[in-house]
Amino acid sequence: MNYDIKDLKLAPKGKLRIEWAEHDMPVLEQVKEKFTRSQVLKGRKMSACLHVTAETANLVRALKAGGADVVLCASNPLSTQDDVAASLVVDYGIPVYAIKGEDNETYYKHLIAAVEHSPVITMDDGCDLVSTITEKYPNLAKQIIGSMEETTTGVIRLRAMERDGVLKFPVIAVNDAQTKNLFDNRYGTGQSTVDGIIRATDFLIAGKSVVAAGYGWCGKGFAMRCKGMGANVIVTEIDPIKAIEAAMDGFRVMSMDEAARVGDLFCTLTGNVNVIAPQHFSKMKDGAIVCNSGHFDVEIDIKGLKKMAKEERRNVRNFVDQYILPDGRSIYLLAEGRLVNLAAAEGHPASVMDMSFSTQALATEYAINNAGKLGPKVYNVPREIEDWVATAKLKSMGISIDKLTPEQEKYLSSWKEGT
Ligand SMILES: NC(=O)c1ccc[n+]([C@@H]2O[C@H](COP(=O)([O-])OP(=O)(O)OC[C@H]3O[C@@H](n4cnc5c(N)ncnc54)[C@H](O)[C@@H]3O)[C@@H](O)[C@H]2O)c1
Repeated sequence: MNYDIKDLKLAPKGKLRIEWAEHDMPVLEQVKEKFTRSQVLKGRKMSACLHVTAETANLVRALKAGGADVVLCASNPLSTQDDVAASLVVDYGIPVYAIKGEDNETYYKHLIAAVEHSPVITMDDGCDLVSTITEKYPNLAKQIIGSMEETTTGVIRLRAMERDGVLKFPVIAVNDAQTKNLFDNRYGTGQSTVDGIIRATDFLIAGKSVVAAGYGWCGKGFAMRCKGMGANVIVTEIDPIKAIEAAMDGFRVMSMDEAARVGDLFCTLTGNVNVIAPQHFSKMKDGAIVCNSGHFDVEIDIKGLKKMAKEERRNVRNFVDQYILPDGRSIYLLAEGRLVNLAAAEGHPASVMDMSFSTQALATEYAINNAGKLGPKVYNVPREIEDWVATAKLKSMGISIDKLTPEQEKYLSSWKEGT
């Protein structure tokens, strides 16, 4: 079996971690049992480009249980859990190409190894696999039945590919499912971003001015958690409606230019480029901490910061680089501007990934069952899948809800009853 990971000897620790996550993924466990019975993925070659975490390990185990011949590569150079990668190879016989801290060249070498597996189904977190196949492997693109996309940035890229007429196969926007973004982006990113910041810095949130750039699902989650821990939260936005929403949720809303002067900690969660740029660094307080939890390391203008700095950055703690500006002020950049929750902490808790990855796995089953019927477009996850996942999650949480009575169903489907 081919693979490229850090160290096979890390496998026992990784196995314990995978099992720990499994306890909190009861819905995915049900999907795994369903796949084991149906063998819906039997003989299908699959390549997944995802964050190599304990939760992802449980997803690929479910796919393998359904008969898939699956390989995994990293969707970010800093998010790999090396012990999990080792356990997937040693304990579960799943080829993995991922090493935490790999350089860009190795990242792409690993991605190509996943492409050369010659998949008929792909899974992406950020669209790097689909864009590489589309640009460089046109023949392979022809055999692909469908692809699943896990994150907002990936869906944005895929919709741009669809608009430009270059998308060659159907893609299911798993990110856009409510069972994904309402929970994973909001509660998962919210909590794990705070976790990453604290692990990296030992920063006390209470009483600090925390700036959340972006008030989408991730930004809302982060702002909410920081507020709960006693921060004065400031939100920056470019969308007037989201800005009003933030203001009415009780946050101070201002431009980044203004926020730059008051923030102690800045976190970008926008999916956009250069949200924090030199004109902002030049106004920041001495000791300001800057980090990102959006998908790519483009949200903070790191090149601009490097140019401004007096000397080489100094690594002062794990995942903390100090940049000293000519006037003596220090700016601390976390995790080289990459997703701080995955680089400095463990990413989203398993309990929330249970929903995302169950949706992901069931979307794969849907793509197989509809092979040849879907065109080269971006599709939403069917409502039945979302309802199934939500119902199973509620059940696992011991929560029961009401059912529509026949009278209520009739009332809701009629237009005749008024005042
Ligand atoms: N860290 C993680 O584990 C994780 C998890 C899920 C998603 N993501 C990534 O996080 C990013 C945000 O995802 P989301 O689901 O919240 O997206 P979203 O589209 O719901 O929200 C993004 C928000 O950023 C705002 N925005 C855009 N440019 C801005 C700018 N210059 N200044 C201020 N605000 C700006 C948009 O108006 C929007 O409200 C994406 O890159 C996504 O892929 C990361």
